[in-house]
Amino acid sequence: MPDQYARATAAVEAIRSLSPTTPAIGIILGSGLGAFASQVENAIAIPYADIPHFPQSTVVGHSGKLVLGTIGGVQVAVMQGRVHAYEGYAVEEVVFPARVLGLLGCKTLIVTNAAGGIRSSLRPGELVVLSDHINLTGMNAAGGPNEPRFAMTPGAGQRFFDMSTVYTPKLRALAVMEADKQGFDLTEGIYLAVLGPSFETPAEIRAFRTLGADLVGMSTVHEVIVARHMGLDVLGISLVTNMAAGVVDQAIDHEDVLEIGRNVEKRFTNLLTAIVPKIEAS
Ligand code: HPA
Repeated sequence: MPDQYARATAAVEAIRSLSPTTPAIGIILGSGLGAFASQVENAIAIPYADIPHFPQSTVVGHSGKLVLGTIGGVQVAVMQGRVHAYEGYAVEEVVFPARVLGLLGCKTLIVTNAAGGIRSSLRPGELVVLSDHINLTGMNAAGGPNEPRFAMTPGAGQRFFDMSTVYTPKLRALAVMEADKQGFDLTEGIYLAVLGPSFETPAEIRAFRTLGADLVGMSTVHEVIVARHMGLDVLGISLVTNMAAGVVDQAIDHEDVLEIGRNVEKRFTNLLTAIVPKIEAS
């Protein structure tokens, strides 16, 4: 098995040779949410192709650049696009960029995604803060030989690690408070991850609702697992792009996912731009 730590270190060195930014916060933008990267000031955008070992997305709506710079004076690294296991990438490749964000110095990882709404009170276009997740992808990105050198905070990097508060409570509260200040309701929800790429059947969605899931998607949990392995704080935000299969009588289309992203861009951008400096100050 290739040495992930050595590979991640090589990626970090390449990034540092191209940008002076030492990011405190890493942000991964999901499907249709890539436009947020234009908020980064003093930006240097590095195509994934120019970073050693960085996997490249094959999905429409994921552009494939790492944007380094500042938001409200805070140094950030923003991933415009991610790769997914359903594209055929090994789970170690899916999480490679998250490992690199940790090694670059990020203490907080903000993960965003497009998701289907299972909870019937949700609406397409709504943002939801993740309170927890259910990983039904059948994979765990922390598997393989344990690599303690990925520990970014004392006590992290263990073979077995706690997952009882994956999504940092104070960051969740901050997001909810900021949304309230901006005049919209931000509820919390539990994200269930499947492998994809097929959307779910109505029977699967009924089963997932019984399991306690509010949202369903094909990303996020792997990056979040390695972020916790490294000891990073995590904030997760889903954009509900459609109601999940069978919740409403309508087929699901990836174009809708991208369209809803464009519609909610401003709200998403305002929320995240306001949160970043507050995380740094907290
Ligand atoms: N299911 C899975 N992933 C998704 C969905 C969905 O309905 N919508 C956006 N990503």
